[in-house]
Amino acid sequence: MLEVSGLTLRYGQSQILHGIDLVAERGRVSAIMGTNGVGKTSLLKAVSGRHPFHKGTIRLDGRDLGHPSAFAAAQAGIAYVPQGREIFPLLTVRENLEIGFSCLPREAREVPDRVFELFPILKEFLGRRGGDLSGGQQQQLAIARALVTRPKVLLLDEPTEGIQPNIIQQIGEVIRRLREEGEMAIVLVEQYFDFAVGLADRITVLNRGEVNFQTDAAERDRQKVLESVSI
Ligand SMILES: Nc1ncnc2c1ncn2[C@@H]1O[C@H](COP(=O)(O)OP(=O)(O)O)[C@@H](O)[C@H]1O
Ligand SMILES: [Mg+2]
Repeated sequence: MLEVSGLTLRYGQSQILHGIDLVAERGRVSAIMGTNGVGKTSLLKAVSGRHPFHKGTIRLDGRDLGHPSAFAAAQAGIAYVPQGREIFPLLTVRENLEIGFSCLPREAREVPDRVFELFPILKEFLGRRGGDLSGGQQQQLAIARALVTRPKVLLLDEPTEGIQPNIIQQIGEVIRRLREEGEMAIVLVEQYFDFAVGLADRITVLNRGEVNFQTDAAERDRQKVLESVSI
């Protein structure tokens, strides 16, 4: 279980996150919603060690991670699928997947078969350059690269952004399967409202760096979520 409490973050003089509390359990999808600029990506960057946070704590299965580097967060089991995917265009699909190896001990450095079960297209395209894949295929590759690390927490930052509908549906299926397998906590940052509400067990809505609504019953509270996102 991931527990974030009282997390604050600054860029220089401007404070972006004002004490965020968030819990994400294994086998559940915790969605974070909110309009552009409310701090969703900043929160995921802090949790994944990509940007230092100021105050607060991040615990994983009860252990305080302190202020982890990106490497330490990955080693602890936190995998981040960045907004915009960040695929290396000149590396092959295989090489992009192997980027995920760096935080693993030597004997664990192989791509689990399960990754190719979830994304069969990647097996077919192992030798292609990342930059030659479609946007949707790159998103699948970015998720696969995160799964290579066998994470305890999977952070997904707007996985549907700019993706064609059939691949959005496939990504939704993959998230459902990962939830059912119950091995990881899934944190889904998403602005595609129906996609998020359809998948989420818990929704946290951010507004200007603060939590302004939270619910464990996304479907029931659909209207309230919509209202709090639209502020
Ligand atoms: N590296 C940065 N330096 C300064 N300000 C930033 C930086 N990254 C994001 N911001 C600002 O922080 C706020 C939150 O950004 P972000 O976390 O990307 O929001 P979201 O993902 O919800 O759209 C925005 O006002 C944005 O302009
Ligand atoms: Mg963002």
